[in-house]
Amino acid sequence: SGKHVNGVIDLDVTGPKISRHLYGHFAEHLGRCIYGGFWVGEDSKIPHEGGIRRDVVEALRTLRIPNLRWPGGCFADEYHWRDGVGPRAARPRMVNSHWGDVVEDNSFGTHEFMALCDLLGAEPYVNGNVGSGTVREMSEWVEYLTREGDSPMASLRSSHGREKPWRVPFWGIGNEPWGCGGRMKADAYADLAHQYATYLRDHGENTLYRIAAGARDDDYSWTESLMKSIGCVTCPESPQSPYQAISFHYYTIPVPRDTVGSALEFSADDYYATMIQARRIDEIIRRHGDVMDIYDPQKSIGLVLDEWGTWHGVEPETNPGFLYQQNTMRDALVASVHFDAFHAHADRLVMANIAQTVNVLQAMVLTDPENNTLVLTPTYHVFAMNVGHHDALSLPVHITSRAADRNVNGVQLDTVSISASRKGENALVSLTNLDADDAVLVDLDLRGGAVVECHGRILTADSTRSHNTFESPEEVVVRDFDVASDASRYGTSVRLEIPAHSYVTVQV
Ligand code: AHR
Repeated sequence: SGKHVNGVIDLDVTGPKISRHLYGHFAEHLGRCIYGGFWVGEDSKIPHEGGIRRDVVEALRTLRIPNLRWPGGCFADEYHWRDGVGPRAARPRMVNSHWGDVVEDNSFGTHEFMALCDLLGAEPYVNGNVGSGTVREMSEWVEYLTREGDSPMASLRSSHGREKPWRVPFWGIGNEPWGCGGRMKADAYADLAHQYATYLRDHGENTLYRIAAGARDDDYSWTESLMKSIGCVTCPESPQSPYQAISFHYYTIPVPRDTVGSALEFSADDYYATMIQARRIDEIIRRHGDVMDIYDPQKSIGLVLDEWGTWHGVEPETNPGFLYQQNTMRDALVASVHFDAFHAHADRLVMANIAQTVNVLQAMVLTDPENNTLVLTPTYHVFAMNVGHHDALSLPVHITSRAADRNVNGVQLDTVSISASRKGENALVSLTNLDADDAVLVDLDLRGGAVVECHGRILTADSTRSHNTFESPEEVVVRDFDVASDASRYGTSVRLEIPAHSYVTVQV
């Protein structure tokens, strides 16, 4: 095809740290993410740890999930935490009006979520209710979770069987307040965020990282309103910011939301439209960051993308409110280019959460509700291949020549995306070839360090539509991949021929 990219990576010139929290997850009370995904209950015949599905936890441990956001999403703003503590049989029921209008029995609540985080080794990111809750309710939830001793909430927790407080590092102040979280204007929400944050106390040694709910997609004016409301972030005489980060959400939706396309049946045009949307994430992060830079040039306020991923139509004959979609090679490549963008903006982007971990939207794992079987999705494999980037130092990749792009209805799409990082003596290079049909030859010049060995791995499949199912769970799996390397005293040149629609990592 003649597609070719040349690049230089200097192994000695490191950039900002890629926080492991960029690989965070999101689990909402939505469809079969919690119920039938993570939680099967203590009476289930499916093997579990205190009601939490064992096979799901085991599969996810490989991903080293750094943090888990819960209980929503839109659900967070109608969730009342007291309904989900105490003896399960006595817990009140409610209607989950956002997601399928189903009855929620509150059997998965605070203690169950903290047990899940424990099993996964993930840090909890709890999202509080601003839309239909109160300041007192949220403040008491923090006390219930994190305070030691005999305070009213600590005693209530003890009476429910948990003496010791938990550690909760991350706290969200509402969700999508411009939409399902209360249909507010930015300035109105900014005032509320200050008010709520004031009463989100640090108890004992627990220090909260408070995250204000931010923009939809490219609504930079929302970010600007929140930044303005803080005042001078770095002036010594000004009060400290009430929150430590601002979030935003960005979904990859190839066609308008009211006509979402199929996760499995899509044309080449749909495929490229998806990739154009996915690659927009780079500009969107940068521009939210540009706005923040005006008010906070020292980057002390973090940017958090706490919902991202593909949003397709639901699988036939499933509840439209459950957002259950299949996951193909296309989704995997959406994930890999997002991670490259995250790495490039690691100086401002401190956390990201894929929506959602199990059975909802761009999931890692699809479970069979009746049996002890699950499917690992192509997206799962991208997360697994990238574990080496967690907490590594980013390495800038200098593209010196590029002949790999495609004109998609007048829009130029770069079909190759590369990022790299270094941890100790090891470097990890990630390379995505988005082209649906053509392979690309990539020549990398690795300088500034002696390369002893290169080990390649590849995630690819017959077609962009390839996916794993219960009947055929290994259509898309990771394999070893040949990397030709040639060391000289000036560095090491590495040559890779990356097949169409593939994701490759090279461990150096
Ligand atoms: O992830 C599904 C939903 O998408 C979330 O509940 C909401 O925050 C967003 O609109």
